[in-house]
Amino acid sequence: MKIAISGKGGVGKTTLAGGLARYFAETGGRVLAIDADPDSNLPSSIGISIEEASKIKPLATLKDLIAERTGAKPGTFGGTFKLNPRVDDIPDEYGLEFKGIKLLTLGTVPKGGTGCLCPESTLLRVLLRHIMLKRGEAVIIDMEAGLEHLARGSTESMDAFIVVVEPGQRAIQTAHQIKRLAADLGVEKIFVVGNKVVDDGDRKLIEDGVAPMQLLGFMEQSEDIREADRKGVSAYDIGGEFKGQIELIAKKLREII
Ligand SMILES: Nc1ncnc2c1ncn2[C@@H]1O[C@H](COP(=O)(O)OP(=O)(O)OP(=O)(O)O)[C@@H](O)[C@H]1O
Ligand SMILES: [Mg+2]
Repeated sequence: MKIAISGKGGVGKTTLAGGLARYFAETGGRVLAIDADPDSNLPSSIGISIEEASKIKPLATLKDLIAERTGAKPGTFGGTFKLNPRVDDIPDEYGLEFKGIKLLTLGTVPKGGTGCLCPESTLLRVLLRHIMLKRGEAVIIDMEAGLEHLARGSTESMDAFIVVVEPGQRAIQTAHQIKRLAADLGVEKIFVVGNKVVDDGDRKLIEDGVAPMQLLGFMEQSEDIREADRKGVSAYDIGGEFKGQIELIAKKLREII
């Protein structure tokens, strides 16, 4: 199962990605969690301490690795480099192991629209394609907010997109935009998780608003989740209702995919 988690800023993408990674790892699967947000915070959502997380070097910043694999000379933008660098060892060599999850942090890729042909983005693109086509684990990608990541190349081989939506028209509109862009990439399976819901009115607002996209379930507005973020720990470890809600979402996902 290879899923990308997307949605408007602050809706709960990272909270869901961390929860699902923990649940799939706990229930016996191997999980590759990919932090594709330059403003990386998936580690703490998974449960990795802030101190450990601060030691993670994002792949896009590993200049020696990028130079070695692509043949690009560091600092020489515009020079020639390999378009098909070797990447098969990267998940195991550079992934951080935590509770059955292998975490890869991508870091910031130089922007430049869909045609950006720099060594860093080439390496990451080839790596993601390798992971999608050749790796056997469940893959969960925590995306950055907005739509830029939907540019062709990084998420085209996903099985599904999960769009996180909070009760409000802006998050709902973003979900529809993501659905259209994902369809352009050939990804037809777009599911929605409603987050920060307080009551049945919120549930209905989301359900009606995102139709005909299929809902996987809801995460409720919760003091536990806020508390986890304040402490820099995973909501999954705090207990409360969150774990149960993640379990329902994950089971539904397994059923469908
Ligand atoms: N159900 C919830 N109840 C209460 N707080 C929540 C809930 N879900 C998320 N939050 C809080 O909302 C904030 C944003 O959550 P999160 O980082 O998961 O969103 P995001 O979509 O990944 O954000 P970004 O777009 O910045 O990457 C965090 O402080 C998080 O703790
Ligand atoms: Mg996030």
